[in-house]
Amino acid sequence: MGQQQCARKKQEPEILVPHADSDIKRVYAVMSGKGGVGKSLVTGLLAIALRRRGYQVGILDGDITGPSIPKMFGLDVKPVGMEDGLFPVYTRGGIKVMSLNLLLPHEDDPVIWRGPILSGAVRQFWTDVIWGRVDFLLIDLPPGTGDVPLTVMQSIPLNGLIVVTLPQDLSALIVRKAVKMAMALNKPVVGVVENMAYAVCPRCGEEVKLFGDSHSQQITGRTLAPLLARLPLDPRLAFWSDTGGLEFCDDGLLAKLEPVLEKVCD
Ligand SMILES: Nc1ncnc2c1ncn2[C@@H]1O[C@H](COP(=O)(O)OP(=O)(O)O)[C@@H](O)[C@H]1O
Ligand SMILES: [Mg+2]
Repeated sequence: MGQQQCARKKQEPEILVPHADSDIKRVYAVMSGKGGVGKSLVTGLLAIALRRRGYQVGILDGDITGPSIPKMFGLDVKPVGMEDGLFPVYTRGGIKVMSLNLLLPHEDDPVIWRGPILSGAVRQFWTDVIWGRVDFLLIDLPPGTGDVPLTVMQSIPLNGLIVVTLPQDLSALIVRKAVKMAMALNKPVVGVVENMAYAVCPRCGEEVKLFGDSHSQQITGRTLAPLLARLPLDPRLAFWSDTGGLEFCDDGLLAKLEPVLEKVCD
């Protein structure tokens, strides 16, 4: 019994092979300690920025129970299937997307599945979606350190993880947990994006720190993950993502993510 347990522990999790017609060059997962911090928004913006640089980009929406990528891009077409796979749908700007929400009869249908089924769906988005040629595949992970992030880190060959957080969220242990999980699984953490770091006063242009002084430097220093970018809280971002128009985002806002792009395109 003791030996059996030992053997089981030693077993390496299997790295999944993507569909034969997928040619995926680099894979980055976007994670956060908790929900509502802007993880999907950052995933979407990174995809748009990479696409504007001329890359072929895909988004694998790994947030099965709370998918928001289709809404941000205004997608409501159903993916087309073949016998051995499913084609992603294209955004207006040419980003390939696969999300469970695209497969549900109604976008507000809940997904009431247990952990292993959720991670099974994400695995299938990797193995059974015909991604074609993709320079960058971005995976929008569900928040936290649960089943799906673990499955993705163990069974998809990630080039790295990008962590999204809020200034005050960083003071909690929760972000460090996420970074430590990645490190424990030997997955490189590209860096941290601090979202809603400040807002710009529409009258005087002053930057207001809505959550007070950021603890980012301190905490990113301790976890060895560099703070790469700070995004403002901008009502346009909320509007564009609510109305399916995230691709209207201007280059000025996207430029804030430049240090992340430099690292992933390196
Ligand atoms: N920097 C920002 N400025 C304005 N609204 C934002 C910003 N970041 C996120 N939001 C809005 O906050 C909500 C939550 O963001 P989302 O990316 O869905 O979070 P998560 O994926 O972490 O749960 C969305 O409605 C989004 O449009
Ligand atoms: Mg989300």
